[in-house]
Amino acid sequence: TWTSENVIGQQVERIRAQVGDHRVICGLSGGVDSAVAAALVQRAVGSQLTCIFVDHGLLRKDEVKQVQEDFVAATGIRLVTVDASAQFLGELAGVTEPERKRKIIGREFIRAFERAARDLQNEASADGQPIRYLVQGTLYPDVVESGGGDGAANIKSHHNVGGLPEDLQFELVEPLRTLFKDEVREIGRELGVPEVIVSRQPFPGPGLAIRIIGEVTPERLAILREADAIAREEMTRAGLDDEIWQCPVVLLADVHSVGVQGDSRTYGHPIVLRPVTSEDAMTADWAHVPYDVLSVISNRITNEVREINRVVLDVTSKPPGTIEWE
Ligand code: XMP
Repeated sequence: TWTSENVIGQQVERIRAQVGDHRVICGLSGGVDSAVAAALVQRAVGSQLTCIFVDHGLLRKDEVKQVQEDFVAATGIRLVTVDASAQFLGELAGVTEPERKRKIIGREFIRAFERAARDLQNEASADGQPIRYLVQGTLYPDVVESGGGDGAANIKSHHNVGGLPEDLQFELVEPLRTLFKDEVREIGRELGVPEVIVSRQPFPGPGLAIRIIGEVTPERLAILREADAIAREEMTRAGLDDEIWQCPVVLLADVHSVGVQGDSRTYGHPIVLRPVTSEDAMTADWAHVPYDVLSVISNRITNEVREINRVVLDVTSKPPGTIEWE
């Protein structure tokens, strides 16, 4: 019978058999899959594992802290953080075209990860214990999808923490290869991975950069972070997290509209709420979020985020709209 304890037991044995006493690295993204894969490997081989977290500066409010503090405290994992946000923002300066953003982020991510991995490898080799394995949080649906021709695959170039250069000669450890998302979440809970990470809804690898329509700047990121945190908080408070697949919050940074606050005219930005329901993200419908929840979100965002004076609801299914705006 399937229980999370059984699966953990089996996977721990497998990982130990595969890895022996070699050293292992794992890239953390802030998402569920990489966190649970890392926690499993940690359970199996403990201090032989080092995790690398590339902070690209495009995560949501509190997510960096959740990885660096909560996840590390809960699992005892050794973590190396690369603060690459200045580098990413520098490369993204002036860029507005969605595919260019995605390509730049994918490329910079690989560079930053590679550099961190090389540093760790040099250190490890000097100790006579070179790193031989790389953990990836590949799930069963990923395995199936990459086998079949997925027509949606070339609509957007996807960046995932998984995609790494071939000249880094690591063998792969993929302890989640036979599992579905729900099972991964259960295992994560059993392993003590913090609930905020375990229950996290899908979030794109390129992060908030593809939710700012226009150039990505630190000021715009700060605005979007605040608005997004409010939307998430209220969706959670309303008990909608299970019903809703995800709710991108999108800043129309190059659009201004006139508003009024007190007696003064404002000239701020609109923000879009994009709540969707979906089974697998290949198709989606806009989620019929109750009006009173939308109303609270709208009031809070326009009251608490000075630069935003209009909240807009996206009522487009996929197709024809994709879930993300870029
Ligand atoms: P779209 O916008 O194509 O999104 O309808 C489908 C799902 O994929 C997520 N998404 C990404 N996930 N790297 C990821 O890991 C990416 O580059 C990426 N782009 C989109 C999106 O949030 C939705 O769940």
